[in-house]
Amino acid sequence: MDIVPLGPGFGAELGGVTIAEIAADDAAYAEVHAAFEEHSVLVFRGQEVSDDTQLAFSRRFGPLEVTKVGSLGAGTNLVILSTIDADGKVVPEDHLLALRNKANQLWHTDSTFKAVPALASVLSARIIPARGGETEYVSTRLAFERLAPAMRQRLEQSFAWHDYAHSRGKIAPDLASAAERAALPPQCWRLVWKNPANGRSALYIASHACAIEGMEQNAAQKLLDELVEAATAPGLSYVHTWRAGDVLMWDNRATMHRGRPWPAHEPRLMIRTTISATAADGVESVRFPPQQAAE
Ligand code: OGA
Ligand code: MN
Repeated sequence: MDIVPLGPGFGAELGGVTIAEIAADDAAYAEVHAAFEEHSVLVFRGQEVSDDTQLAFSRRFGPLEVTKVGSLGAGTNLVILSTIDADGKVVPEDHLLALRNKANQLWHTDSTFKAVPALASVLSARIIPARGGETEYVSTRLAFERLAPAMRQRLEQSFAWHDYAHSRGKIAPDLASAAERAALPPQCWRLVWKNPANGRSALYIASHACAIEGMEQNAAQKLLDELVEAATAPGLSYVHTWRAGDVLMWDNRATMHRGRPWPAHEPRLMIRTTISATAADGVESVRFPPQQAAE
């Protein structure tokens, strides 16, 4: 297996291996898992991707999320990101499917608004527009490490509220439906997620973060905006230009990502699987209220 670093300080392309082999082989899985903990974003090129191979690969890393109400693929383990309607036509720019893609173009971390947050996401491109439609990543681990020590200490003791309706509201006031709001009450997580595998901490923020526990709302929003701005400043990102056969995997504890626009009349279809975070991934350490140490 070849591991070639990709981005500014994070990200790696893994060559000489298929996602089917990783699903089937313990040694290959262990190597990829170690690369995932280290590099945060993994790129596999030239894969023969099907829903089944993507599911089998993803399941190696932990339990899969069930897609939430209101999304294409609801109730299955696949999230379908598409701008194609039931008749096979590309939807207009004000269509719900197009607006959902627009919401994905805000810097975000997957599933921070869920009762069980996500360890990782796996994304494959099935229909790629001729230009645009890249996916862009930054490291919130490196962003955390760049902060001044006093700020790091403060954020390690802070908790942020995450709300799906908040991020959708940035695109259109009622983009989150009543059913989605009812199914997805706001969640509160520590602002810094320490990876138990390597002890490295990362900011846990982005588009769904709407408030900081115990902090005045305007000041909290300003701090969250400043943290995202610093984490995403020019020169800090890896931009992935999709080719047929690409599969990407990223650590939602240590990155933010966003989709990039493409010409609205062109179709784009992506399929995502999402792996839930477990105790082994440190999820209990970020839960609010903080866990009390046993007496
Ligand atoms: C995602 C996502 C962005 C894109 O799949 O979670 O945000 O480029 N995708 O489609
Ligand atoms: Mn996403």
